[in-house]
Amino acid sequence: MEKELESLIANLKKELKECSKEADILNVKSKYVGKKSRITEILASLKDMSVEDKRKYGSLINNTKKEMESIVASTLESLENKVNITFDDTLDYDIENGSLHPVTIVAKEVTDCLKKMGFTVVSGPEMESEYYNFEALNVPKDHPARDMQDTYYLDNGMLLRTQTSDNQIRGMENYGAPLRICAPGRTFRNEDLDANHENTFFQIEGMVIDENISIENLMYVMQELLSEVFKTDLKVRLRPGFFPFTEPSYEMDMSCVICGGKGCPTCKNGGWIELIGCGMVHPNVLRAGGIDPEKYTGFAFGIGLTRLAMMKYKISDIRVLNSGDIRYLKNFDIK
Ligand code: DAH
Repeated sequence: MEKELESLIANLKKELKECSKEADILNVKSKYVGKKSRITEILASLKDMSVEDKRKYGSLINNTKKEMESIVASTLESLENKVNITFDDTLDYDIENGSLHPVTIVAKEVTDCLKKMGFTVVSGPEMESEYYNFEALNVPKDHPARDMQDTYYLDNGMLLRTQTSDNQIRGMENYGAPLRICAPGRTFRNEDLDANHENTFFQIEGMVIDENISIENLMYVMQELLSEVFKTDLKVRLRPGFFPFTEPSYEMDMSCVICGGKGCPTCKNGGWIELIGCGMVHPNVLRAGGIDPEKYTGFAFGIGLTRLAMMKYKISDIRVLNSGDIRYLKNFDIK
């Protein structure tokens, strides 16, 4: 009997040594001191023993069980101590509140304004297929418009989306007509970096489809949006543009706030910043989204949110926005 009790303790210790996780220890615990363990069985057999044996082994068996339980408990405790990370609170550090990123702020202003006009906010994937990013938007494989939007093509056959316009097709497929959606998001292009170009930037897409939608509806929404964001009179110009997914297409520029329109590196000395591409949705795009162009018309727009933030906060170099330099970004601590 003594030998068996001793070997139970020895085996328990040996198995516990091999445990690195709490769950393993608990398994060993139930094997050695649980209801179906050998020690519980021996304890139960006490009642059938002779008075003499009871006297001889009673306390030994009880003490063995207690010892085994305390070995398990201390193993669990030492594991907890190992996992606990001690925190040195004597270190001196600045407690500073974070702030919203300028792009986040304008994204919220634009979406809030669109929501008031009945737009639903949707989002799509940043890793996109050629179909949604180009083909369904009336930009076939060899179309020269692809040159203006070179991007990062991935090994899995996908690409990093160059525009939030992919949401137009996804939106039409998911919701059908009539439709009123906007989709803010991150976009990518293989760009040469300069004060006004980054390989990663933000846009917001908008699309409205219904019966009898006209350019006037588009202009109204653009005016509302810009006055909501800038809350002051703005100098903007509308000029004809070209986008394969809209016909007619327009570009809306804003007088550069960095130089007051005189010309600077931010506006490439032109005095104007391209802010919005827009137009009436091309019938091929409606068809790709499963919508009948005989019955419905629509407008769509894409706003450069990063540029909008630059103009709103007079940020002359786009690169600081992705720099993560808190010393700079905290200047826009507007909650
Ligand atoms: N996706 C275009 C770009 O990134 C912008 C754009 C133009 C969006 C016209 C539109 C549109 O929805 O109708 O340059």
